[in-house]
Amino acid sequence: MNIEIVGAGVVGSAFGRALLAGGHAVQWIDSHPGRVQDLRENGFTAALPDEPADPCPLYFICVPTPTIGRDQDRTALGKALARVAMLLRPELSPTVVIRSTILPGTSRQWALPSLERESGLRRSDHFRFVYCPEFLRERHAAEDASAPRIHLLGELEPGQGDVVAQILGGGEAPVVRVPLEAAELQKYIHNSFNALKISFFNEMRCVAERMDLKAEVETMFSVTRQSAEGMWNPAYGTRDWGPVSGPCLPKDVEAFLGWMRSCDLASPLLESLSASSGNR
Ligand SMILES: NC(=O)c1ccc[n+]([C@@H]2O[C@H](COP(=O)([O-])OP(=O)(O)OC[C@H]3O[C@@H](n4cnc5c(N)ncnc54)[C@H](O)[C@@H]3O)[C@@H](O)[C@H]2O)c1
Repeated sequence: MNIEIVGAGVVGSAFGRALLAGGHAVQWIDSHPGRVQDLRENGFTAALPDEPADPCPLYFICVPTPTIGRDQDRTALGKALARVAMLLRPELSPTVVIRSTILPGTSRQWALPSLERESGLRRSDHFRFVYCPEFLRERHAAEDASAPRIHLLGELEPGQGDVVAQILGGGEAPVVRVPLEAAELQKYIHNSFNALKISFFNEMRCVAERMDLKAEVETMFSVTRQSAEGMWNPAYGTRDWGPVSGPCLPKDVEAFLGWMRSCDLASPLLESLSASSGNR
């Protein structure tokens, strides 16, 4: 299938190469002349946004969505959508897919109205829309793009992701289909959990170092990888079993916090857990 990828950075480049390996014809669009030149010198098809490009049945948007303060900057995404909108041809039954990380609600409240306004076309009647978060790791981008663990398709309506499911579903990774907002939210659950886990172990490392146990940190963490169900059972904590409870967790977290305070040690994450332990 002819596919256009808008944004040829870490995500767009790795993802596009994986599509090429799957036998698709990929053209990249990037606003950075050096990126375009680099792709062309390596034998790929690439163009700047204002250069002519053939309309396609499938567009993947992989442009940056940086955070400024605590706001998402949608400037690049807005430009990419406006350009794709101009290329939409209903006779090709086009599908627009955003792969950039976007906040919950962005697709329905902002991206779709923008596509409709710029193209003069109507969602569902003239084009389909999918939000498909990218889960690759930057340091393993090529490897992850060619062997993803899972695909998540957020669909505007059931069935809108059929073409994308067909393209992505050829490998072993399962394809899960959900409403748009669920896919947008899941990407933030994913990233926030990873950040939380890293921060927790960083806090524990600080506590250990303050106790002159630096040399033992790796051993303590490696034992924890085996001893804590939250480490060896991926489903642990994800079921709706109510607030933190049981004979050990609440009492031990509170005692640990009290002990840390008495030693002038801090764990802001555990403090927040204590405050939120009644919440679900
Ligand atoms: N880097 C990662 O590991 C990773 C993983 C998952 C998701 N993501 C998300 O994917 C998105 C892209 O991230 P990235 O790391 O590939 O960014 P990147 O900065 O590596 O690449 C973005 C590319 O888009 C180009 N670009 C910017 N505006 C454009 C426009 N209007 N038209 C065409 N090209 C344009 C830039 O020149 C650049 O080459 C972001 O939303 C990011 O949060 C990134």
